[in-house]
Amino acid sequence: MNLSPRLKKVIELLDLPANTADIGTDHAYVPIYLASNTDCSKLIASDYNKQPCQAALKHIHQAGLEDRVEVRQGSGLSVLDQNEVSQVIIAGMGSRTIINILEDDYNLAQGLEKLVLQPMAGAGSLRKWLANNNFKIVDEALVREDDRLYQIIAARPGNMKINNEFILELGPKLLENRTSLLNYYFNELEKKWQEVIDKISENDAENPKINYLKTKIRNLAELRSELKI
Ligand SMILES: C[S@@+](CC[C@H](N)C(=O)[O-])C[C@H]1O[C@@H](n2cnc3c(N)ncnc32)[C@H](O)[C@@H]1O
Repeated sequence: MNLSPRLKKVIELLDLPANTADIGTDHAYVPIYLASNTDCSKLIASDYNKQPCQAALKHIHQAGLEDRVEVRQGSGLSVLDQNEVSQVIIAGMGSRTIINILEDDYNLAQGLEKLVLQPMAGAGSLRKWLANNNFKIVDEALVREDDRLYQIIAARPGNMKINNEFILELGPKLLENRTSLLNYYFNELEKKWQEVIDKISENDAENPKINYLKTKIRNLAELRSELKI
């Protein structure tokens, strides 16, 4: 199976082999890959919607892996029993949906060894939620597919010491690892913030959000010179 760079990176951030659930699996490509290439003994592909579950079942059947990957329909972590798996993947959803899933079954999430999360947007707010809710970020990665940059966050239950909210928003492990796409990531952030400034300025030049975003752009420039990127 030819996985996308994004899904390959999600798999790289897992601890393998381990009992693993892919929440919001859709096509079930990740559990199929894990069943074909690793010794994970329990693999669960789950999705809230019927159609993705049907697609998952079809792909699992085509791969002849019905005895290795179980499909469950339901919302978030509610499809799992406590301690049934040690890690979960929640990829390809907005950060608010990911946070809702973790809030809805918080005790189960706290019993996991690792969570690999790939928000489509709002990675900064997901990091803040993790830090404020007793999860620590243990690794992070950036992946570029065409012009789109994806952020992947690996977390474990535990405390994270936060000295700098701006670094938390950007991704402490992305900075620590000096990820090769850091320069591209910073350019994208600056572009996005500047576009918002320009848009707000058209109608409301006194809006305090303008100064807030200008400060963020300045902080980013300082960080760039500190990191020499
Ligand atoms: C864009 S797909 C991502 C598929 C795959 N995880 C990936 O990253 O390529 C998002 C999937 O999440 C599912 N989903 C959305 N909210 C969910 C929830 N609360 N619990 C389980 N699945 C959910 C959707 O039905 C959809 O199939």
